[in-house]
Amino acid sequence: MEADPHPIRQGSPRLPPLDAGRLEQSASVEEQLRFALHCAVLAPSSHNTQPWRFIVGTDSVAVCADRLRALPVADPFDRELIISCGAALFNLRVALSRVGLAYSIALFPSSADPDVVAEVRIVHDGHRDESLPALFDAIATRVTTRQPFADEPVDPAIERALIEAASAEGVDITCVSELVERERIALLVALADRQQFGDPRFRRELANWIHPRRRDDGMPAFATDMLPLLDFATPLAASVVRTFDLGDGVAATHHRLVVGSPLIVCLATGSDDREAWLAAGEAMQRMLLVAAQAGLTASYLNQPIEVAALREQLAALIGLGANANPQLLLRIGRGPRVPHSPRRALSEVVS
Ligand SMILES: Cc1cc2nc3c(=O)[nH]c(=O)nc-3n(C[C@H](O)[C@H](O)[C@H](O)COP(=O)(O)O)c2cc1C
Repeated sequence: MEADPHPIRQGSPRLPPLDAGRLEQSASVEEQLRFALHCAVLAPSSHNTQPWRFIVGTDSVAVCADRLRALPVADPFDRELIISCGAALFNLRVALSRVGLAYSIALFPSSADPDVVAEVRIVHDGHRDESLPALFDAIATRVTTRQPFADEPVDPAIERALIEAASAEGVDITCVSELVERERIALLVALADRQQFGDPRFRRELANWIHPRRRDDGMPAFATDMLPLLDFATPLAASVVRTFDLGDGVAATHHRLVVGSPLIVCLATGSDDREAWLAAGEAMQRMLLVAAQAGLTASYLNQPIEVAALREQLAALIGLGANANPQLLLRIGRGPRVPHSPRRALSEVVS
């Protein structure tokens, strides 16, 4: 593929304009795939590592995990890395559906290369999910919002739509809105924050992904939820995070945010393997797009899942069955508009 004329940076338009009619009728499959990949890379990823690569053939795309972008301290088994690839795969499915392409998907198709998480092949008699094109516009509007949410309950009809979205991808979802339960979750999140920030290796890894705004990956300091603690020194954010144990401050901030958020959701799977992680990523993204469509936003509280000793406690706290494995914990609500995080150019992730 030639050089990408539309690098996606923070503050820049997030997608090349969609001329759906032309893409549907007269564009080559390669052009359609390129457009779909623009959508794929707008998926969320832990620390905005964007841990994916795409290998494009004449009528196929292989979605690959880029393990050079792993987070060995926060995510030692690449669980969240595969979840992130699942989110990118879901965006790809939505975009292909939007331009009218049918496809088939083989998951982990190569025993020789476990980094290939999915092969998506364009086929005339392939899968068409009529519910996906409607989610297209939300790909560009979805954003992680780490600020407090409005103190208003989530409409029960929207909550049902979120449950349907995750369930459609075969993933269990538990919604928590009672204050007393949110308070219990908040305490667990705060406990996990203290444990993670007490580990200098965790702080160093996080600091490595906090960048000045010009970078195309990682989290600009404005996007981290440590900003209230770092206001005095935004350009120095990474070195402050690396050097000081901000655990108590971060824990207090997260505690307030969890208690103040109208809805907490936990996505869980029956097994805890790469197939389950990929499905969790697709389910998460489907749910986030449905939320964005409804004017809601989300932010992540995965700490009690990342700290292995607290994962079972979380499962028990929200009443999951003995065999359920929590994969993602998010808060959802109505939040302020925040800038988008940057993305790498397609030319860097496509071969
Ligand atoms: C699996 C996963 C885990 C994440 N964990 C966190 C987290 O613990 N804290 C956080 O603030 N953001 C978390 N994020 C959000 C990313 O930082 C965010 O997606 C990324 O910076 C890109 O920004 P965007 O979502 O606004 O496009 C996570 C995202 C994913 C997909």
